[in-house]
Amino acid sequence: MDDSLCICGSGTMGSGIAQAAAGHGIPVILYDLNPEMLSRASIQIENDLQNQVARNRIRDTEKKEILQRIHFTGSISECKAGIILEAIVEKEEAKAALFAGLEKINSATTLFASNTSSLSIKKISEQTPFPERIIGMHFFNPATRMKLVEIIKTDHTREADIQRIRQLASRMGKTAVICKDAPGFIVNHVARPFYLEALRLAEMEIADMKTIDQLVESAGFKMGPFHLMDLIGNDINYTVSCSLYDALGKPGRLKPSILQELKVKQGELGRKTGRGWFGY
Ligand SMILES: NC(=O)c1ccc[n+]([C@@H]2O[C@H](COP(=O)([O-])OP(=O)(O)OC[C@H]3O[C@@H](n4cnc5c(N)ncnc54)[C@H](O)[C@@H]3O)[C@@H](O)[C@H]2O)c1
Repeated sequence: MDDSLCICGSGTMGSGIAQAAAGHGIPVILYDLNPEMLSRASIQIENDLQNQVARNRIRDTEKKEILQRIHFTGSISECKAGIILEAIVEKEEAKAALFAGLEKINSATTLFASNTSSLSIKKISEQTPFPERIIGMHFFNPATRMKLVEIIKTDHTREADIQRIRQLASRMGKTAVICKDAPGFIVNHVARPFYLEALRLAEMEIADMKTIDQLVESAGFKMGPFHLMDLIGNDINYTVSCSLYDALGKPGRLKPSILQELKVKQGELGRKTGRGWFGY
């Protein structure tokens, strides 16, 4: 079985996943329709690897080898592989349209994986004529460091394909867990109150964002909710909140925050725009 890898979308997640794959010896095609995002990804990966060289974590020759394994492309006709993983905009129709377009230029055994944080894999898959070839492969941010991968299966998913994705995760040094297609899967379901309750405290002006983060971090969490939302991207985090809220029947406890909606409208998306809850 051809298990070569192509990643679509070279933003926060696509670039991190490509680096994680290349760092584990896996050649990867990294595609984006926005040339600026491609060159940003290339610079970011090179800087991160250079940092690792400076810290004696990898040698300069390894850095070069890792970079050589990533083929950056703005041409969709080059997106041919055994496994195609999308990390594009969080919109069902965009993901389904990308897969449908790529299916025409790939082989009948190509598997299409989505890195969606919150959309239904079943709904994406049923917008294509090949739902059995679509599966969820959900990485966490930063993908170079976070070990967990959720593999999301639907009624259409074949056992052999779960194993193909599990093997890919394992080749990348990741730990995979399998879960059913459900709103937020496992982690984003469990973690939603972490963000929403912190936002609620800030909305009610019970404490400011810096204080809330300091408190949570002093309690043992690696990152407070506001720093974590800035790392994830407020646009992505807000979209996930809205999508879970809708999918679970709009329970009051999961109501998305007006503060975050405003942040998104102001374009203060977090680290990727240089400003979110904090400045970068
Ligand atoms: N940010 C996170 O912490 C996080 C974590 C896990 C999963 N995700 C999921 O990963 C996906 C990407 O999130 P991100 O944070 O990397 O977003 P991002 O905004 O940083 O990057 C998205 C990239 O996709 C590109 N793109 C958009 N439409 C495209 C298309 N049709 N073809 C090719 N490229 C296209 C954009 O140019 C951009 O470079 C989303 O589905 C998101 O829910 C995000």
